[in-house]
Parts: sequence; structure tokens; C-alpha cells
Amino acid sequence: MEKIINKIEEIALKIDNLIKTGESGYSETSNQTGDIQLKLDIQSDEIIEEEFKDVDSIKAIISEEKEDILNLNEDGEYVVCYDPLDGSSIVDYNLSVGSIFGIYKGGLNGENIVASIYIVYGPRVEMVKTIKGSKPIHYRLVGDKFVEQGEITMEQKGKLNAPGSTQKNWYPYHKELIESLFQEGYRLRYSGGMVPDLHQILLKGGGLFSYPGTTDKPKGKLRDLFEVIPFALAYIEAGAEAIDDKGISLLELETEHPHDTSPCFFGSKYEIAKVREAYNGK
Ligand code: AHG
Ligand code: MN
Ligand code: MN
Repeated sequence: MEKIINKIEEIALKIDNLIKTGESGYSETSNQTGDIQLKLDIQSDEIIEEEFKDVDSIKAIISEEKEDILNLNEDGEYVVCYDPLDGSSIVDYNLSVGSIFGIYKGGLNGENIVASIYIVYGPRVEMVKTIKGSKPIHYRLVGDKFVEQGEITMEQKGKLNAPGSTQKNWYPYHKELIESLFQEGYRLRYSGGMVPDLHQILLKGGGLFSYPGTTDKPKGKLRDLFEVIPFALAYIEAGAEAIDDKGISLLELETEHPHDTSPCFFGSKYEIAKVREAYNGK
């Protein structure tokens, strides 16, 4: 596992450099989800594949940008699922973006994630590493080294509300939930990049990030293996919660296809109790 983590740190430096120096704009291809790929999406994916190729402990990789699983080493212990560049729709407008990695041992389900790492490429480059069973650890890039900043612990309640997806397609009970938080004084914080949005809530110690099922997309948009489950591990180990629209922990998600998506809610205990109340029986 340590080798994989070291590789991810090297990858982060390369992708950061790519974002700063690479070409903007779209390629001519789409990914499995149907999104038109940016040149940066494809190049970030190539960087990661290249770096992971010589890590013996990686059995296979699954990328948001690849249709199928790519087998690397038959005797490898881990499958690494990743979103090379999260925030394709905002990177060319110079908002913060990220990379997300979920490291799985055994089947590709929530309960088999053993570690997750995400990187935020913002005014600073930061990394959060969560090993199952321990608190997430926050790092900041200083020169070419990630320097530890401390453990992350969430409070019982926060002040931020980050509601994703298209409001016109929200179910009435979801609309009521989001509105009730604003009525309580919560402030809107939504950039369109789940990495900086979830990172802000984690570091400020509380709040709610939601990406619900909607009338046009009942299973939501965010992908289980490389977006939802890795962040669920970070939130749950930080003492917060991460659930789906049935109130089930996102670490209990069972996936059938690498690109499956799920409605998801990440937040401190108070806000998640409100989600459960709003969604009860729906
Ligand atoms: P990606 O760039 O990897 O396709 O994912 C973007 C995701 C996520 O970062 C963000 O929270 C969400 O899409 C935003 O979607 P909406 O604009 O529909 O809210
Ligand atoms: Mn993404
Ligand atoms: Mn992506």
C-alpha cells in the first residue's frame, strides 16, 4: 500500500503541472458516462496508468475515463479505482479541481475499500489520505513534498450547504430539505467540483454536501467506485456520516458495473439526521 501512496504523490505533482501547462479544451471523444472528455481528462488518465504500471501490488485499475477494468498484475493485492480529474466542467474556468483514488481489496464494494486519497488542485495543492480504521490526514504540498497538517475530525453540526444537481429536477422532499437548512441559517457553498466542495466542509468541520437522485437521473450522477465510496470513507473516519437516499451507509454500497452511480449525502451528524427525516419512507 505504501508504494501505491507514494506513487499517488508523484502523480499529483505531474497532474498539477499538467493543469498549469497543458492545453485547455475538449478532445474528440466521450467517456463511458457520455461526458465529452477534455484533453486534460485523457492526459491525466495516461499519467496515472503509466505510473501505476510498475506497482506490483496493483492487480487492476478502473478509471472514470476507461470503459473497462484494466488488469495489471495477476498477483497484485489491490484494485485502484480513480477519477483522474474531477471537475472537468470548471477546470478551464480556473476553479479548483481534484483527483480521487479508492483502493480496494477483494470485491468492488463499499465494504472492501481499504484506503482513499484525494488531491485538491487549488491556490494550494492539498491531499487527504484516509486509511480504513484511522482518522483522515491532511497534507499540503510545500515545494515538492507533501507536509502533514494534522488529523481531520468533524463536529456534530456545521454551517455550509452544498446542494448538487439541477434544481428543476429535484423531488419536492429534497427541495424542502435544502430550503429548511437555508432557513436555519446555512450558507450556500457550491463550486461544481465535489473535491473542493467536500474538502471545505471536512476542514471547516461540518455541513452538508448532497448529490441526490432527480426526476431525470434517479440514481444521481456521482460514481460509486471513484467518487462516492472514497469520500464516504474519509467522512465516516472523520466522525461524520455518508448515506444514500435510503439512509444506508455508502460504505455498504454494492456495485454491479464500474460506472454505477448513487444518490449521496455527506455531512455531519446533525445534517444527516435531517436528510434521514426528509427521505424517510420516500
Ligand atoms: P467529473 O468532472 O469527474 O465528470 O465530475 C464532476 C462532478 C462533481 O465534481 C461535481 O460535484 C458534480 O459533477 C457537479 O455536477 P452538477 O453541475 O450537475 O451539480
Ligand atoms: Mn468526477
Ligand atoms: Mn473526472
